[in-house]
Amino acid sequence: MFKTYLKTYLAATAASLLALTAAAYAPSAAAQAKEEVEVMHWWTSGGEAAALNVLKEQLQKEGVSWKDAPVAGGGGDAAMTALRARVTAGDKPTSVQLLGTAIHDWAEQGVLADLTPLAEKEHWADHIPPAIAAFSTYDGKWVAAPVNIHRTNWLWINKKLLDKVGGKAPTNWDEFQALAKQFKDAGVTPLAHGGQPWQESTIFDAIVVSVGGNDFYKKAFVDLDPAALGGDTMQKAFDQFRVLRGWVDPNFSGRDWNLASAMVINGEAGMQVMGDWAKGEFIKAGLKPGVDIVCVPYPGSEKAFLFNSDQFAMFSLDDKARQDAQLKLASAIESPSFQESFNLVKGSIPANTEVKPDKFDPCGQKSMADRDAFKSTGGMLPSLAHGHAASAAVKGAIYDVVTNFFNSNQSSADAAKALVDAVALAK
Ligand code: BGC
Repeated sequence: MFKTYLKTYLAATAASLLALTAAAYAPSAAAQAKEEVEVMHWWTSGGEAAALNVLKEQLQKEGVSWKDAPVAGGGGDAAMTALRARVTAGDKPTSVQLLGTAIHDWAEQGVLADLTPLAEKEHWADHIPPAIAAFSTYDGKWVAAPVNIHRTNWLWINKKLLDKVGGKAPTNWDEFQALAKQFKDAGVTPLAHGGQPWQESTIFDAIVVSVGGNDFYKKAFVDLDPAALGGDTMQKAFDQFRVLRGWVDPNFSGRDWNLASAMVINGEAGMQVMGDWAKGEFIKAGLKPGVDIVCVPYPGSEKAFLFNSDQFAMFSLDDKARQDAQLKLASAIESPSFQESFNLVKGSIPANTEVKPDKFDPCGQKSMADRDAFKSTGGMLPSLAHGHAASAAVKGAIYDVVTNFFNSNQSSADAAKALVDAVALAK
């Protein structure tokens, strides 16, 4: 009896001692908990979430806790709307995923933290290609940490289906059309497509550089030259877009990009024109890029690397623990080992050129080789659809024209004219 009592008493005492000890340590636990980053992003598909996990785990290893602030919606338009609403309401996240000119827009408002001392200590300028660093810096200061480089002008093909129809990966528009017809004749949807403005513009970017070449793309989408936007070459690009429209299934409207990738994965569709975040979905589904999924640049765009780079910017905050967490996040993002593991999952290639290509699949290796080779050819071109070529207003105006054309019977001549007018208004 006494023994039982003693046991219970001792156990209770031990428990209250433990509780007391925990209470004594509580302040430091609380302080630690403050070393937290809230990260706003739009990586919600299977492949994207897997890549994000690599970042979460990296930070947790460094004692920084992660507060997830996802806003679903490929391409990030919904996330940007949510971000503006939060900042207006005085509720800035610690950190946010941003693309291209949006980084400069926020920097211009003076709300981003200056990462320059860290960038200098870690020599970011030596490892990040100038084309990417141009977006990470503003007014001579580093304001964002680039995590990757995506190439947007890819064509993905289901290899089993390709073999089944006896086709070959196309290298020009005629071969592309021939293959699409082979798929169609075999009862397979030739092109998996998600009918959302950003996806339509992603495809249109690839067509424009393919039809017009690198200089034309730059004239039209970077210089916003009215003659290029409204001329014969742009009309030819719209003609090609019209032909593509004939190869999508009837249910494309509003479909998310990863569901279009799933159609290629499960053999419902033969091809998808999409940036290499689609590769993240293929990998997540257990397919091997270069083996089960063929990757080629969109036919006719081999000399171009249309890029977009996901970057994380930090909002200026007063809290010291949170500032430390921000610097840990930025530093983790730029480390070569992290850039390797993250990009192997995400489908992109590292923004840090110190990372070797060895572990990447043939599609990643091609991107890395082209990234380096095109430095001197002018082939590294900013993606319009992903906010790197022009302002958000111009991008939005072009989205409207491109989507309206794809979803109507408008003529190519009228679409090219509409492009000139819309850009002139938005500029
Ligand atoms: C981003 C990618 C993302 C894709 C689809 C692009 O704008 O750069 O990281 O996976 O949108 O959401």
